[in-house]
Amino acid sequence: MPLQRRRRDGKPHLYEDVVDRIAHMIKGGSFRCGERIPSIRAMSDRLRVSVNTVAAAYARLEDLRLVEARPQSGFYVLPFEVAALGARRPDAREDISAREVTIGDDAMAIIRRLSDPALVPLATGAPNTALLPYRKLNALLAAEARRHPVESASYGSPRGNKHLRQQISRRLLTAGCSVAPEEITVTCGCVEAVSLALRAVCRPGDAVAIGSPVYYTFLNAIQHLGLKVVEIPTDPREGLDIDVLRFALRHAPVRAVVAITNFDNPLGCVMPDRNKQRLVELLAADGIPLIEDDVYGDLGFSGSRPASAKAFDRAGLVLQCASVSKTLAPGYRVGWIVAGRFQAEIEALKALTNIATPSPTQLAVAEFLATGGYDRHLRSLRRTYHVQMAQLRSAVARHFPPATRVSLPAGGSVLWVEMPDRVDALKLHAEALKHGIAVAPGPLFTVGGDYRNCVRLSASTWSPRVEKAVAALGAMACRAAGEDSVASCPADARTA
Ligand SMILES: Cc1ncc(COP(=O)(O)O)c(C=O)c1O
Repeated sequence: MPLQRRRRDGKPHLYEDVVDRIAHMIKGGSFRCGERIPSIRAMSDRLRVSVNTVAAAYARLEDLRLVEARPQSGFYVLPFEVAALGARRPDAREDISAREVTIGDDAMAIIRRLSDPALVPLATGAPNTALLPYRKLNALLAAEARRHPVESASYGSPRGNKHLRQQISRRLLTAGCSVAPEEITVTCGCVEAVSLALRAVCRPGDAVAIGSPVYYTFLNAIQHLGLKVVEIPTDPREGLDIDVLRFALRHAPVRAVVAITNFDNPLGCVMPDRNKQRLVELLAADGIPLIEDDVYGDLGFSGSRPASAKAFDRAGLVLQCASVSKTLAPGYRVGWIVAGRFQAEIEALKALTNIATPSPTQLAVAEFLATGGYDRHLRSLRRTYHVQMAQLRSAVARHFPPATRVSLPAGGSVLWVEMPDRVDALKLHAEALKHGIAVAPGPLFTVGGDYRNCVRLSASTWSPRVEKAVAALGAMACRAAGEDSVASCPADARTA
C-alpha cells in the first residue's frame, strides 16, 4: 500500500521528516554507498521518535531506492543509479519529410552563451583545457616555428603539411583505415571539414539526412548552405537508426547523410561495427555520400578505439572528418578530412575558403603526434572523463526528479538527460543562467523543437562548484516537475 505523503491538515507526517533527514545524510555523504545505516531501534533512540515512525521512514527510503533491507542484517545504502534511456524502436512512420532549418535569434543567443567562461561549464562540448597538454604543445609550437622559420610564416598547400598528414595516416590505422597521406586534406578543425564536405556533395535545396538529436552546429551549417534536413532518430545505444534511414531514402530525396559514428554528441553512443558496415553498404548501393564525424573516436572509456565507418568504405563515398580539438587543442584549429572520390573538390573548396590551414599549428601537432606521447595522454584523458562521467551521472541520480533518465555514454564528455515531461528545458536553461549555470537545452539539438524536457550536460570539468551546480539544477528541475514532497524528490535538491 503506498504511504500517504501528507496528513489531512496538509502538514507532513513525522516520518517524512525522518526520511528527509536520513536522505539528506546519505546524499551529503555521511552514510556512503554500501554502508549500513543505524538499526530502526538505534535510530529511534537517536532521533527521539517512535520505532514505528522510523520503520515507516525506512520503508519509504526503500521505495526511493536509497537503501535496501538485508535479511538478518539491517538497512544498507544503495548506489545512486539513474535509469538509462531505453532503446528506440525503429518506427517507419517517423516524420521523414525534408524540412527547412530555421535557427531563430533566440536559439543563436542561447548557443552563444553556452561557453561563456563566467558560467559554470555544464553546457559545453569543449574539452577541459586543464586536462590538455597545452604546455608541451605551446613549447613545440615555439620550437617548430624556430626550426622552420620560413615555412611557418608561409602559405601552406591546401592539402596541408606532409609530416602532419603522415602522422594522421598512422593514427587512422587504429580506426581500421588504411589511408595514404596523399588522401588526407588538413582543415581548420572538424567543423570546417564537415562544412567543406556538405559543400562538395550538395547543392542548395538538397536534403541531408542527419541523426536526431544532433550537434546543433551541423544544423546551423545546413541552414546557411541553403540545405534541408531529414531527421533520422538516433538510438541512445546504437546511433543512427538504419532501418528508418533506409525507409527515408525511399521516401525523401536525400543527397547525403551526416553521422557522428563514435561517442555521438549529444548521446555518447557508438554505432556498432555491423551497423557501420550496413550503413556504408546501404548508401553505396544508391551512390549517396556519407559525411562521417569521428571527432570523439579517440575518447572511448574502454580504451579500445572503435572503427571508423571509413574502414568499411570500398566506393570512396565516405568523407571522414575529425580533428585534434577534443584531445589536444581546440584553439589550434587542426582537423582533417579523408574525402575519397571527392578529394579534388574538397581541396578546391579549401583553397577558396581560406587558402590553407595555418602552418605553425600544423607543425606543432605533427611533432606532438610523432614524439609527444599522444597515447599516454589519451589514456589519462579517457580515464579522467570516465570517472567524471560516473560522478556526473551519480549527481544527476541524487538531485534530479525521480523519473529522470540519462544516456549511457561509452566515451566522450557529454551526458543527455531526459527529465519528466513537465520540465521545460528552455525555462530551466533561463533559470539556471540567473544562477550562473550554463546548460544546453534539448530543443537546440533538433529542427522541430522536440526534446523540450531534455538537457545536455558536460562531464569535461568536475569540481565542488560543478557538483553544487548540478544539485541546484536538479532542485530547479524538481520544482518544475512539481515534486514538492521529500518522499518523491531528493532531499538536498529541495534545499540546494
Ligand atoms: C560532433 C562534433 N563535431 C565537431 C565539433 C567541433 O570540432 P572542431 O572544433 O574541430 O571544429 C564538435 C564540438 O563540440 C562536435 O561535438
